[in-house]
Amino acid sequence: MSDTSSASQPLASRASGPLRGRIEVPGDKSISHRALILGLLAIGETRIENLLEGDDVLRTAAAVRALGGRADREAPGRWRVVGAGIGGLATPPDVLDFGNAGTGSRLMMGVAGSHPITTTFDGDASLRHRPMRRILDPLVRMGTVVVSEEPGGRVPLTLRGPDETIPIVYETPAPSAQIKSAVLLAGLNSPGLTTVVEREATRDHTERMMRHFGADVTVEAEGTGRRIALRGQPTLRGAPVIVPSDPSSAAFPIVAALLVPGSDVIVRNVMTNPLRTGLLATLDEMGAEIERLDSRDIGGETVADLRVRHSRLRGVVVPPERAPAMIDEYPILAVAAAFAEGETVMRGLGELRVKESDRLAAVAAGLAANGVVHRVEGDDLAVSGDGRAPRGGGLVATHLDHRIAMAFLVMGLASREPVRIDDAAMIQTSFPSFVPLMHELGAEIG
Ligand code: S3P
Repeated sequence: MSDTSSASQPLASRASGPLRGRIEVPGDKSISHRALILGLLAIGETRIENLLEGDDVLRTAAAVRALGGRADREAPGRWRVVGAGIGGLATPPDVLDFGNAGTGSRLMMGVAGSHPITTTFDGDASLRHRPMRRILDPLVRMGTVVVSEEPGGRVPLTLRGPDETIPIVYETPAPSAQIKSAVLLAGLNSPGLTTVVEREATRDHTERMMRHFGADVTVEAEGTGRRIALRGQPTLRGAPVIVPSDPSSAAFPIVAALLVPGSDVIVRNVMTNPLRTGLLATLDEMGAEIERLDSRDIGGETVADLRVRHSRLRGVVVPPERAPAMIDEYPILAVAAAFAEGETVMRGLGELRVKESDRLAAVAAGLAANGVVHRVEGDDLAVSGDGRAPRGGGLVATHLDHRIAMAFLVMGLASREPVRIDDAAMIQTSFPSFVPLMHELGAEIG
């Protein structure tokens, strides 16, 4: 298991003057993992620009090396991967320790579990709590043997892939891009057609990037969902990848600018893939002033510069079908809702219970600690505000969850009393430059 015994890093934020300036947040975490993984499965060289160099992604890079690929950092954000090719993976010399990274570990289970090698996966105390059955179930149907696992399908667990992986048709039991991606990645090393049916469309970076590397992937709309079919055992060729900025990281300075009076901030190059922009749609409905400037294409994804000005927000109802497009953004939306006038109801948040922490419980506890009126009813969260700054003043338990840490630091920038978090260490997993970038805008965090 990763070392979680190192001292925790408490941090606090306090009411700040207007946030001003132009910033660019790091590369998208989802795309960064996928670029490294497809680079491993390709023949030849993959050059990546603007890779997120957060701890989660660095763990995936280490796994790429352990499985027989090369992953070298040539300059900040610039990486060169040399693939082992589909079918060419080596047995890793040691346990693959994914730290805090759900995405990296689950996607790599699809990769390693479809090769005739034995691989052990482990992670930190947060990852050790997260459900892996959802990945193991389809993999077992594809022929993977689960050699050992912790009760309930948790890491540490060991997989042994079959000599020949079986292509399947799989309907995902939850709206999860990680489940979809694990099955498709396993499908790359199986003869014939692997099909994933999802009842609600989730982020489609795997499908897009597989095509970019030369795979034959077809996608058909089915109601609100999709049917994705992949022809197995293609020859993938290394391809250049430019990683756009992560909308899930951009969410924090965006909401900070909305909440701190007088703010006017531009966040550059934010990916605006419609399967990732549920938060922007919700903030628009709440009355946020967010201008999309210079919408353009970078490396096959649309990006825009977002100009965000302090805004008066009002409560809205967020429908459950929007959850997949903003699944990581509920903690920061809950913070925005605390400053809005009226009630914001977020429905269908069951998946939040199995993130880096039980995010529904962690958000509710953080709101309670800061004097925000809210209630959890089943899988729904309702947050009430009167349009003024909430009290703040709380100490928030982050439970090894980067997004809980950043969301409540943002709250403290505009609440009446400072907000403290018990541990900022996990911010390194997804947004290592969060504190310096927020300082650049004038935020008081320290
Ligand atoms: C991700 C999918 C989502 C998201 C995670 C990244 C991905 O998880 O929460 O941060 O890159 O595929 P689920 O698939 O569990 O919804």
